Amino acid sequence: MLESFKIADLGCSSGPNTLLFVSEIIDTINKLSKQNSNKTQEISVILNDLTKNDFNNIFSALPSFYELLKKNHGYEFSRKCFISGVAASFYERLVPCKSLHFVHSSYCLHWLSQVPENLENKEHIYMSKTRDPNVFNAYKNQFYKDFSSFLTHRSHEILPTGRMVLTLVGRESPDPSEDDGCHVIELLAQSLLDVVSQGLIKQEDIDSFNLPVYHPCKDEVKEIIHNENSFDLEKLEVFECDWNPHDNDYGDGDYNYKFDKKQRGEIVANSVRSIIEPTLVPHFGELVLDNVFKSYEERAIDHFETGKAKYINLIICLKKK
Ligand SMILES: C[S@@+](CC[C@H](N)C(=O)[O-])C[C@H]1O[C@@H](n2cnc3c(N)ncnc32)[C@H](O)[C@@H]1O
Repeated sequence: MLESFKIADLGCSSGPNTLLFVSEIIDTINKLSKQNSNKTQEISVILNDLTKNDFNNIFSALPSFYELLKKNHGYEFSRKCFISGVAASFYERLVPCKSLHFVHSSYCLHWLSQVPENLENKEHIYMSKTRDPNVFNAYKNQFYKDFSSFLTHRSHEILPTGRMVLTLVGRESPDPSEDDGCHVIELLAQSLLDVVSQGLIKQEDIDSFNLPVYHPCKDEVKEIIHNENSFDLEKLEVFECDWNPHDNDYGDGDYNYKFDKKQRGEIVANSVRSIIEPTLVPHFGELVLDNVFKSYEERAIDHFETGKAKYINLIICLKKK
């Protein structure tokens, strides 16, 4: 039985989901340690995100989080959980050698470290819908480089037989021009063009903008893990979920409420905005974004009618060799 358990959540963000993951994992460790012995384990949790993440928001939520731990698990247990933050890119080293038992990351690894260099991708903001193999290869190579370096850095940090669970947005088809799962970005490109026709931004602004995002398919991920060679792939599952998360009935909530078309459009436009806005503002400015996402909302309403408003998720479980 380990005396202390060290985990990291990479790309933790600073919203309500941040401490949700921590709380789930602390509950699980506490349950397991009670089953195996009655000794309370120490738990160290490292929360990582980029330097611009609002770590103050996380830290100011900690006193009430510790109160909750105390209420649910007792004073002694709450004193044995140590939460800290590391502000840096996960495409670099984050913690000392062999210092982690478990690494988690959700909805982050489809974000590249940068837009591929020397990209010629006029009128598009991503590789989907483009039939140009050069654009596809540039994005694919950047993902190959980034995901390999992520695995290599983590391989130094994770103890032998330690695990990683990674969830990222991907695509189902190996053919990138079939935009399954990537339509969420295609709608953004169309909404930006709507704002060009309103005269609020210039076509050249779109020509010079590309998103640093890549949605890999299962085989690409497998190939990188195999070639990088630090981890055994224990599980890789592909699953779909609805653009409107409230449309997913996992059987554990009250999903009887039916959203009307407008509400679904608003939910999707707001959630895409919350994720992508920081990337758009430096290029297009803040003032045009209300128009962009108003148009997004309308386009999303139409897209729901096709029945194809789904994300493709890849969930990967890896064990350090
Ligand atoms: C969509 S949020 C996911 C938040 C949370 N993990 C969840 O599942 O709700 C993606 C997060 O990844 C972070 N991120 C993107 N690239 C990163 C990198 N290279 N290093 C660390 N964090 C990164 C972003 O800053 C953002 O907070």
